Amino acid sequence: MCGIVGYIGKRDAYPIILNGLKRLEYRGYDSAGVALYDGTNIKLSKTKGKVADLEERVSKEISTNGSLGIGHTRWATHGVPNDINSHPHYSNSGNLVIIHNGIIENYASIKKELINRGYTFTSDTDTEVLVNLIEEVKKQEDVKLGKAVQIALNQVVGAYAIALFDRNKPDEIVVAKLGSPLAIGIGEDEFFVASDATPFIEFTNNAIYLEDEEMAIIRRGRDVKVRKIKGDEIVAPYIQELQLNLEQIEKGGYDHFMLKEIYEQPSVIKDTYRGRLLANQGIIKMSGLEDNLSKFTNADRIIIVACGTSWHAGLVAEYIFEDLARIPVEVEYASEFRYRNPVITEKDVVIAISQSGETADTLAAIKLAKQKGAFVFGVCNVVGSTISRETHAGSYTHAGPEIGVASTKAFTTQITVLTMIALRLANVKGTISQSDYMLQLRELESITSKVEEALQSEPKIKEIAQVFKDAANFLYLGRGYNFPVALEGALKLKEISYIHAEGYPAAEMKHGPIALIDEQMPVVVIAVNSNHYEKVVSNIEEIKARKGKIIAVVTEGDTQVKQLADYIMEVPATPESLTPLVTTIPLQLLSYHIAVMLGKNVDQPRNLAKSVTVE
Ligand code: F6R
Repeated sequence: MCGIVGYIGKRDAYPIILNGLKRLEYRGYDSAGVALYDGTNIKLSKTKGKVADLEERVSKEISTNGSLGIGHTRWATHGVPNDINSHPHYSNSGNLVIIHNGIIENYASIKKELINRGYTFTSDTDTEVLVNLIEEVKKQEDVKLGKAVQIALNQVVGAYAIALFDRNKPDEIVVAKLGSPLAIGIGEDEFFVASDATPFIEFTNNAIYLEDEEMAIIRRGRDVKVRKIKGDEIVAPYIQELQLNLEQIEKGGYDHFMLKEIYEQPSVIKDTYRGRLLANQGIIKMSGLEDNLSKFTNADRIIIVACGTSWHAGLVAEYIFEDLARIPVEVEYASEFRYRNPVITEKDVVIAISQSGETADTLAAIKLAKQKGAFVFGVCNVVGSTISRETHAGSYTHAGPEIGVASTKAFTTQITVLTMIALRLANVKGTISQSDYMLQLRELESITSKVEEALQSEPKIKEIAQVFKDAANFLYLGRGYNFPVALEGALKLKEISYIHAEGYPAAEMKHGPIALIDEQMPVVVIAVNSNHYEKVVSNIEEIKARKGKIIAVVTEGDTQVKQLADYIMEVPATPESLTPLVTTIPLQLLSYHIAVMLGKNVDQPRNLAKSVTVE
């Protein structure tokens, strides 16, 4: 949460920072700000609202010259979103200016101490406390900024990615990281700082990703000095070559990133299995898995930890692993897992699923599992992310940057990776017949054309969206492999349209939710061909008997449900274990169109952020 950007070099910093903030807005968008050094002074402008509001304010408020600057887009933690709480924050002297992504947990006691020493505070933020602590250390210890940052950070508890500079030493930016991501772009005589590499990809392909508990002093026209925050160790920075390109982070003619990402699914699913799945030869080869195959085959059980949509992908995986590979699976909300006293042994394999690779709760669950001796395998999308580095091994999804806050292509690519893992394990363990195995591989390889087919129903789905856009509530029902899809459908709808929606296993309906059903209640039922088809039909009958409105996702050519449902959304026939990859598509499109019709900000829904780096 929160995006940070910085620049020091030879160009004007402001356009780079502004553009960078627009790219990072997915990380938080309740306020934004910028501080520029114009050669004599710091010019600061900040506002509640989006980066576009900042742009307008800057144009009225400050001159934008200067080749050193920092900028911030905020997702509020301490202090409501307003102008004052927006970043950057000055220290009391006005010499230091800081941006921060994260939380300083012991800020209240530090603030008290600083107030006793005469400091005053204008905002409610923990960040203003941190910048004043740095100022106080600098003064008391009579040290340079870098040293002061190091000493101060050793006194704080929490998470941070920070960037700051000193008006009296405008040739350096000091940055530090613990728990929140921070990348440094290395250009020619210029340096960039950002929460991820998107703000600087048109300027350089080279980046240093700071590790936790590292800080760096970035010196104009000179170098980047990386060191540990604890102790005196200097770190030789590893400069990584970036694989990103500009096209991947632009809308490419679509109205919203979410729609673009929904339509990218056929190609990114293919990218995810390309080179790993050779259906004709019966081969699945993923190096992270192959190197650790025995860990999986000897495991007593697999525990999956994740949050949100990634947790839903974990639930789908539970069905696939148990069904195909006969390995017991437990799926845990990372946030609950970490605060229980879970029983984990060295014979457990923990799979952590995360698009961003930065989710704080998932990261904490991983650390706990590692402490208890489990082997931890990551399924992440963002290359080089903290979770991908923190896990023992893993397999990336190849969804490319997901910018729409509501996760779409990350979900289907996660399911793709998890399905490949399950199939490989089933094959090694002999829990699947060779003919079934070959069939599943072929079907997985051809799933992309079925996803494409499912996308073609968009005009029909738009009509359905028009009918139900004003409903106050929705129910989503599914069974077996499609129960998690029902949860995911409900989550997508509520997060972008703010309509209350709940997902349930279809059979659970009669244990409570059925009381909600009347003629006002649209019920989305996933009723594709499966072992449970007849049971789902009975559930539909139960809804009909209570006058609920039925929107059914059915297999092409279905006749039975078609007669019962008010509206249908068709998907191509698929083996049951792969149905989530196609049934998800109409539900994503339905949420998307309802939200657009309601005039909601689809890519940046209220209160949310793409990367949840706070607990
Ligand atoms: C929903 C959504 C969130 C994320 C969750 C986990 O559309 O995007 O529920 O799935 O915050 O994020 P990652 O996968 O980055 O760990």
